[in-house]
Amino acid sequence: MGIKITIIGSGNVGATCASLLANKNLVETIVLIDIKQRISKGKSLDISQMNSIYGLNTNIIGTENYEKSVNSEIVIITCGVTRKPGMNRDDLLKINSDIIHSVVKKSIFFSPNAKFIIVSNPLDVMSYVSYMTAKINPYRIIGMAGILDTSRYRFFLSKKLNISSYNIQSLLLGSHGDTMVPLYRYTTISGIPIKEFLSEKENDEIINKTKKGGENIVDCLGTSAWMAPAASIVEMVESILKNDKKIFSCSVFLKGEYNLSELYLGVPIILGKNGVDKIIELKLNCKEKKLLENSANHVKKMIKKLSINY
Ligand code: 2OP
Repeated sequence: MGIKITIIGSGNVGATCASLLANKNLVETIVLIDIKQRISKGKSLDISQMNSIYGLNTNIIGTENYEKSVNSEIVIITCGVTRKPGMNRDDLLKINSDIIHSVVKKSIFFSPNAKFIIVSNPLDVMSYVSYMTAKINPYRIIGMAGILDTSRYRFFLSKKLNISSYNIQSLLLGSHGDTMVPLYRYTTISGIPIKEFLSEKENDEIINKTKKGGENIVDCLGTSAWMAPAASIVEMVESILKNDKKIFSCSVFLKGEYNLSELYLGVPIILGKNGVDKIIELKLNCKEKKLLENSANHVKKMIKKLSINY
């Protein structure tokens, strides 16, 4: 039997992810689930008809029925409420945690061996909620944020330096939000350290733009971004399915790495067929350590607010 992927939430992120995945011809079936059954049905038909034009073979099923997701290799959680102008990701804490708890419970029942990619916000806490709900090896539950934040950073940096974003390699740590941690020392352009191109102070300006990257889009569109988030998810799916073992910053469960534990937070990992293959522990300097600690404290505070007892 071919590979099946389920996407929970047929909104902008979920449907765009299905369409990008279909374009890659990576899987046999994509199940697009939404409580609004007509939306998932309509979007699945639209993507299927796009497939006819391009000669793509992925079968797209739009449904509200979790039974259809049975034995999925990967479940992608994109559902929940998105930000409106003036809101930050943390404002979605209570409402989205209830939604995520309920959808993960149903998904794990039908796909007990799946890997989960969490996209709903506030991302690091929703990944933790998913783990507490599914009660599986935490390395099978991974939050998508670092690839998106890095893509924004690379974009702004490429504009500033007038070079291709493709040549920029970087890692951002910490929470998907204002407390994200830039790693100036670990940023290179085609292997050349970034300090050869711009000072740390100039880089800080780019980081500030990156932090506001999602918010700017919310202000323009009245809702969150979906193209770059969907492309980031597809990068993760591909690395898992092909066991590529690519290195990405992802939100993962920490068990003492970076002196942190019992929370999900963005750190560099090797991503393979079982999910997190390895967490890469970098030797941070004092400033970076402090920033990461601050980011972790912020996430811990939100977890505390929820007082999860699943
Ligand atoms: C963003 O940063 C959706 O949180 C996501 O655009």
